[in-house]
Amino acid sequence: MARLNGHAVNRIVILTGAGVSAESGLATFRDSGGLWENHDPMLIATPEAFARDPDLVYRFYNARRSQLDNVLPNAAHRAIARLQQAFSGDVFLVTQNVDDLHERGGSGQVCHMHGQLRSMLCKKCGAAQPAADDYDRSTRCPRCGVVGGLRPDIVWFGEIPFHMDTILARLRVCDLFIAIGTSGVVYPAAGFVREAVVSNALTIEVNRELSDVTGLFHLRRRGMATTEVVALVEELLAD
Ligand code: OAD
Repeated sequence: MARLNGHAVNRIVILTGAGVSAESGLATFRDSGGLWENHDPMLIATPEAFARDPDLVYRFYNARRSQLDNVLPNAAHRAIARLQQAFSGDVFLVTQNVDDLHERGGSGQVCHMHGQLRSMLCKKCGAAQPAADDYDRSTRCPRCGVVGGLRPDIVWFGEIPFHMDTILARLRVCDLFIAIGTSGVVYPAAGFVREAVVSNALTIEVNRELSDVTGLFHLRRRGMATTEVVALVEELLAD
């Protein structure tokens, strides 16, 4: 069992947001130059937007998926994976990110609460399938063969995030909660720190700026994820 600031640590929950992938070259959503600065999320990331203009939505997510071929995991992704592999206790990783950089950084367990760019969902048969190439409304579902039923396997505004029961169960028993690179604007993820505090967990925020929920954390590490996460993981593994 490790100790951090005098607090015994055996079960860790890590929540990541777009900030953990920023230094890999993927734009965040709400920083200056972020994705939602140039796109209205209500015209892209809602079921209504998809019904109104599916081609726009397919184009947006196809472009983001193909961008993954040109980026690499960074030191923060790798440090989290190292913690998962080397820590004597349990490390549960939940991400709001739809990229695959945690997996490529070596994480064997990643809970994608907002879905994944490399997956597409068939509305006809309900199956999630790997999305290796561009797809649109003319693409046939590889499972049921129906044309026109595929949508991005992404949780849009107004939809319920995936795996909530598992995440809340982990938060209930964790003794350390770490949020990395997330603005604390989007719920339910922004509320996880409250759940962790109720569980008597120590809570740490890693962010280069203040988030909307900074005041709820016991400790704050102000700085870039590649620096701060690496240092924090070293501290947890050194003990
Ligand atoms: P945001 O873009 O809202 O916030 C990114 C956060 O990362 C900000 O608080 C930045 O200060 C911080 N940040 C940026 N670069 C960093 C770095 N190098 N090191 C440390 N921190 C850094 O992204 P999320 O909070 O992930 O949902 O957004 C949450 C959800 O809103 C997303 O999953 C997405 C979006 O709408 C869906 O698309 C469903």
